[in-house]
Amino acid sequence: MNIILLGPPGAGKGTVAGNIKSELGIMHLSTGDLLRSEIKKGTELGKQAKELIDQGKLVPDEVIIGMVSALIAQSGEQGIMFDGFPRTVAQAEALGKIAEIDAVVLLDADEDVVTERICSRRICPGCGAVYNTALLNGSNVCEACNTELTSRADDNEATARERFQVYMQNTQPLVDFYEKADVLCRIDANRTSGEVAENVLKALKDIK
Ligand code: AP5
Ligand code: MG
Repeated sequence: MNIILLGPPGAGKGTVAGNIKSELGIMHLSTGDLLRSEIKKGTELGKQAKELIDQGKLVPDEVIIGMVSALIAQSGEQGIMFDGFPRTVAQAEALGKIAEIDAVVLLDADEDVVTERICSRRICPGCGAVYNTALLNGSNVCEACNTELTSRADDNEATARERFQVYMQNTQPLVDFYEKADVLCRIDANRTSGEVAENVLKALKDIK
């Protein structure tokens, strides 16, 4: 089964994927995580991407399509949960030529809700765990590996709002695109992460 998690920045795509991937037994592929790993390694792709990501702009379609196509080719029979890809109609068309998509889950959330979530997100540079200050009770260390938590470079209010505008302009048209293909499920992502995961699993139950 191949699934796309669609939704604005901070809607909870990564959180949902983390909560349901073992239940579904499929691979989680986040283009944002892949790009941040290229930045960490200091590759040419990472250097190009960093400038755009820090401004909240999209990385060019051809770079993203090349990166994802290579991974799909290596993934074998295992299904994939795409997170943050596709983000443009060109990316969706390219994906349609190389993989069959069984469901597209739209995590629908308001601009103020997602901006607040982004500004209060903390990440562990040691093991990659993702937290939110709302649930950290004042602690700033990773529960799993005791490393001091940090913020993503693009997690500030101005960049979060820019990312939301970029989403509305470039990615929102995919809602129509996948509605026409009759594969779209809408989930209210303003709810708690537990409720969101449960509702996504319910929506996918008929497809499994
Ligand atoms: P990417 O890393 O994909 O960022 P994004 O789409 O902006 O989404 P986020 O990762 O910020 O949010 P999320 O929905 O995963 O939320 P999360 O679960 O972490 O992309 C970054 C950049 O890379 C892009 O801006 C672009 O430059 C580039 N890029 C990536 N893919 C690209 C592509 N295909 N084409 C071109 N460029 C591309 O949750 C957020 C916070 O909220 C966390 O703290 C979490 O704990 C909390 N939270 C989650 N769910 C809930 C809930 N239900 N209730 C309360 N809190 C919650
Ligand atoms: Mg994410």
